[in-house]
Amino acid sequence: MSILLTGGAGFIGSHTCVELLDEGYDIIVVDNLSNSSAKSLEHVHQIAGKPLKFYHVDLLDRERLENVFAENKIDAVIHFAGFKSVSESVKHPLSYYHNNITGTLVLTEIMQNHQVKKMVFSSSATVYGYSERMPIKEDEPLKATNPYGRTKLMIEELLRDLAASDPSWSITLLRYFNPTGAHPSGLIGEDPKGIPTNIMPYITQVAVGKLQKLSIFGSDYPTVDGTGIRDYIHVVDLAKGHVKALKNVLASPGITAYNLGTGKGYSVLELVRAFEKASGKKVPYQLVGRRHGDVAVSYADPQRAMQELDWKAEKSLDDICADAWRWQSCNPRGYSN
Ligand code: WQD
Repeated sequence: MSILLTGGAGFIGSHTCVELLDEGYDIIVVDNLSNSSAKSLEHVHQIAGKPLKFYHVDLLDRERLENVFAENKIDAVIHFAGFKSVSESVKHPLSYYHNNITGTLVLTEIMQNHQVKKMVFSSSATVYGYSERMPIKEDEPLKATNPYGRTKLMIEELLRDLAASDPSWSITLLRYFNPTGAHPSGLIGEDPKGIPTNIMPYITQVAVGKLQKLSIFGSDYPTVDGTGIRDYIHVVDLAKGHVKALKNVLASPGITAYNLGTGKGYSVLELVRAFEKASGKKVPYQLVGRRHGDVAVSYADPQRAMQELDWKAEKSLDDICADAWRWQSCNPRGYSN
């Protein structure tokens, strides 16, 4: 079986490559390297001990993407490729709509032309917007609150219309909560370009001395200690969820969404303390005002994925912190080491 991963050189994509190779799949990666490094794929090869095919191609380059499908027998696609910063999407909405939505349109048109109608799509919990009810179930109303989240929501709707128009399509939508951590080998991990917007890479960069101090956004939320609560899921658990979802699309048609989270929320201060314990490093921080667009609490109800995909997050918050620290301390400058 040959699987194409768009954005496969990225944080979640590279970890999914490892799990797929371990399961015996052949994989082809298409990535424009706008927010990733081809070094991650060299490290994937080192971890898995198996080769993979890589095309340095942008999904917006229809001709070159067409060639990838013409040159390879592809059984299914896992679609990770897309810009993913909430704050950046607010500043540059048009580039987010063009890159994420037009890219997906080009991909799905070419898939259709080549009769490749099985896809796992990398969606996000941001499609739920400000959800009052916790834990969040998949039938919660969808109401994105920023351009990035709206691109994910629009792509979900595009894929629903596609599946409704042609029942031979099989599509699984995976709504990630807060992916973090790193492969225990320390060879692949999160390597954001510039100053990190997500909390864990910010914490690890403070711990390794690249950044001075963590600013904790908001200490007056209605939570255990006033700081925001999130469902941090280990990226290896998330990658294993993609393998389960792939088996699902290979086996049955239709379209279904699944929340991939642990079902447990931790506050920012609880995360900082867990990291300090796991790494032995102090993380200096200051309490500052809330960040615009943040919700107070967000964590998943992962029941549907447990029952239908036979998937459950296994790794703990301590595993997440220990693995994130190993990646950062072994690679203080990420892949540009
Ligand atoms: C987590 C918590 C912050 C940074 C985003 C996207 C989501 C997904 C994951 C793509 C919050 C606090 C953060 C900092 C802080 N990405 N924080 N100081 O916002 O929950 O989710 O990333 O799919 O779609 O929305 O993640 O890591 O930015 O924030 O205090 O420097 O950490 O307020 O409570 P978020 P995050």
